Amino acid sequence: MLILGIDTSCDDTAASVVEDGTRIISNIVSSQTDIHKKYGGIVPELASRRHIEMIWPIVDEALKTAGAKLEDLSAIAVCHGPGLIGSLLVGCSFAKALCFSKNMPLIAVNHLEGHVFSCFLEEPRPNFPFLSLIASGGHTSLYRVDGFRRYKELGRTRDDAAGEAYDKVAKLLGLSYPGGPVIDKLAEQGNPKAIDFSRPYLPESLDFSFSGLKTAVLHYLRAEVQKSKSAEVVEIKTSELPDYCTSALVKDIAASFQACIVDVLVRKTEWAIRKEGVRSVTLSGGVSANSELRKRIKEMGEERSVEVFMPSIQLCTDNAAMIAAAGYHYFLSGNFAGMDLNPKAYLPL
Ligand code: KG4
Ligand code: ZN
Repeated sequence: MLILGIDTSCDDTAASVVEDGTRIISNIVSSQTDIHKKYGGIVPELASRRHIEMIWPIVDEALKTAGAKLEDLSAIAVCHGPGLIGSLLVGCSFAKALCFSKNMPLIAVNHLEGHVFSCFLEEPRPNFPFLSLIASGGHTSLYRVDGFRRYKELGRTRDDAAGEAYDKVAKLLGLSYPGGPVIDKLAEQGNPKAIDFSRPYLPESLDFSFSGLKTAVLHYLRAEVQKSKSAEVVEIKTSELPDYCTSALVKDIAASFQACIVDVLVRKTEWAIRKEGVRSVTLSGGVSANSELRKRIKEMGEERSVEVFMPSIQLCTDNAAMIAAAGYHYFLSGNFAGMDLNPKAYLPL
């Protein structure tokens, strides 16, 4: 059974054809990074305009790559939230129009549910129940997953998401957008113990809070700039790869900031494992592409004899294969959306 997945929740226009919820036949993602990076973050209006331009070419490419026609599809699964409302509207309107014109079933998938199901697109696949850590640009949450549509939220961010913290700190350091991959690379050359940023563990809670960390980085950077005023450490500015980004200071800040984020994500996941008594953990969302997080969560799994499932890098960040994978379960349970489907910026799982 072939399902076409569509995701336009944020700044990537994505379409994918997936067979039986597990086998990727095509997976096309058109990134808008070049449009947004000069602003150091996503500009919602520009994102929706670009989605309008790209949606048809990307869906067409996904179908052509899969060697499939619209008539070969069993359904179209579209992400209807959470996300940027203007962006979501493009994907939802497009999916509705296609389904209406071809008299095809429409399926509405929550973006976070898509991230959970990204772990089913590759071998080995997790068995229920499992713990799911979703860390992305918009979300940082821990769920207990007992089955399809049986999700229990254990904790969530109270302010910034982990990816958002990466992006904001990268901006402070004058690095390019998105910040996660750049900081990940720079951190390899820095000392993670150089700066002892305090860990926001929020005792007794599985919630997260990363906005204070961003402020701590800002204060640290200001103090360093004040202290040095040297040619190497210049004013805080946002431009692409400024001179000081090669300095040891930026590398140490990147490594120390990343160590803090990873410590918190891993520790909270450990707490949740202990609390829920589950033996499997999945990691998904853009931040799960992070090399240090992947390494540390794997080590934690080995220490605790817990199985860890991480999608390969291209399935960590936003894609539509994950939407089709979750959509397959909606299809099996006969759970279809109507032509009155409206996207929602805020949509809890
Ligand atoms: O899941 P995603 O593609 O979109 C959302 O649903 O938000 O996640 C994007 C986020 C961005 O904040 C980006 O900086 C972060 O994931 N990210 C990373 C890495 N690659 C992407 N963060 C840390 N390390 C990475 N290697
Ligand atoms: Zn996402």
